[in-house]
Amino acid sequence: MSLEVVILAAGKGTRMRSKLPKVLHPLAGKPMVQRAIEAAADTGAEKIHVVIGHGADDVKARIDHPMVSWALQEEQKGTGHAVAQAMPQVADDATVLVTYGDVPLVASETLRRVVDACDDNTLVLLTAILDDPTGYGRIVRNDAGEVQAIVEQKDASEEQLAIQEVNTGMLALKASYLKQWLPLLSSDNAQGEYYLTDLTGMAVENGLKVAVEHPDHLWEVDGVNNRLQLNQLERRFQAVQAEQLMLGGATLADAARVDVRGNLEIGEDISIDVNCVFEGNVTIGDDVVIGPNCYIKDSTIGAGTVIKANSVLEEAVLGEGCDVGPFARLRPGTVLSESAKVGNFVETKKAHIGKGSKVNHLSYIGDSEIGEKVNVGAGTITCNYDGVNKSKTVMGDGVFIGSNSSLVAPVNIGENATVGAGSVITGDVGAEELAVARGKQRNISGWKRPTKKS
Ligand code: UD1
Ligand code: CA
Repeated sequence: MSLEVVILAAGKGTRMRSKLPKVLHPLAGKPMVQRAIEAAADTGAEKIHVVIGHGADDVKARIDHPMVSWALQEEQKGTGHAVAQAMPQVADDATVLVTYGDVPLVASETLRRVVDACDDNTLVLLTAILDDPTGYGRIVRNDAGEVQAIVEQKDASEEQLAIQEVNTGMLALKASYLKQWLPLLSSDNAQGEYYLTDLTGMAVENGLKVAVEHPDHLWEVDGVNNRLQLNQLERRFQAVQAEQLMLGGATLADAARVDVRGNLEIGEDISIDVNCVFEGNVTIGDDVVIGPNCYIKDSTIGAGTVIKANSVLEEAVLGEGCDVGPFARLRPGTVLSESAKVGNFVETKKAHIGKGSKVNHLSYIGDSEIGEKVNVGAGTITCNYDGVNKSKTVMGDGVFIGSNSSLVAPVNIGENATVGAGSVITGDVGAEELAVARGKQRNISGWKRPTKKS
């Protein structure tokens, strides 16, 4: 007997004041609905049905997940009506879990508890006790404490409004009951909508038990209606991630000024200064020090490496004991071997810089293969692009490139060769050779500076 999840994401999200559908707004770098889908997938569900309506085409175009099938709700007639749109695709004997696309942080463990408590005789609601329950559906219980119904804020009596236990919207119920009861819903209520919440009363009438589960953290069930709430949830999530980093062995200069938008794996004794952003999959070895204002995406940083202030790394792989920045830009395909140095205002792309080699100042190194113990002088540029094709620059071990040289690729500089400063190198240089390719210096004695004409 299978688990199928129905994610509600058809609502308009007017209060976002945005052209982008609400559920596509990112939280920690990922669209909210993508997070809801991943949480659903992590429960071990077999199928995930996402009910879309407003901005349906955008959502379909932007979300890619192998388990998702779409259900279109053309008009938003309420949460019950929304779930009904997915039901034709749901197996009769499935257990159905309903979640929301605008509740991005619910933990899969929480959802799993809801599912595990569901059986042929039980409807399970995820509920929470709030200091201020305003706006939510209230959980109505009888004197014996058994759940009897959910009453929406707009339909509630004074007495019911005082109830602090609220419906988070997430529930689990057998598909057979949903298929039976959803068509029976009426829209005879304050909002003229088909309320999914009315199934609670139906379950009670039909002799089912209504069980409740609670989330471990209240923020798990926080929904997003506007950008203020989105930001509050973002900050909450970043705070949780910062805690995990600190407990995992990273010293943060300021826990509120580190953002992780993806997966950050760390070793121990890491130090991260303020305003660093980590995106995608980043792995950081032991004893790495990261200075302020660094942006690091999809990269691996070996143990003991130091990344100084204001450096940008994307798809870079750094060995142990490297020294990068300040103001370095390592673009995709950059590989630094152990103890390599890339200094200030250096840009690298598809470049392998060998063990102990240095590119310390103001250089562009693209499509390059640099051996060990190479010294690339300040201002050296690999001219890798002729306007049509990219070509490669190769430097053997021990090469020394004088400052302000242009290496016009394809070009090969042999082991221990030297290039004189200011050279424009257009042909290969053999091992151990010195290449000088610049105007020869002439000193003209007796030369007079021009004088101003009267
Ligand atoms: C709903 C619940 C309420 C609960 C609250 C928690 C009902 C009737 N009420 O109220 O008990 O406390 O959520 O946040 O279920 N949606 C659709 N199609 C529709 C209507 C809604 O896909 O026709 C989606 C929305 O995009 C949203 C979710 O369902 O993701 C909830 O809709 P919303 O209008 O926010 O429900 P509430 O009135 O807040
Ligand atoms: Ca809502």
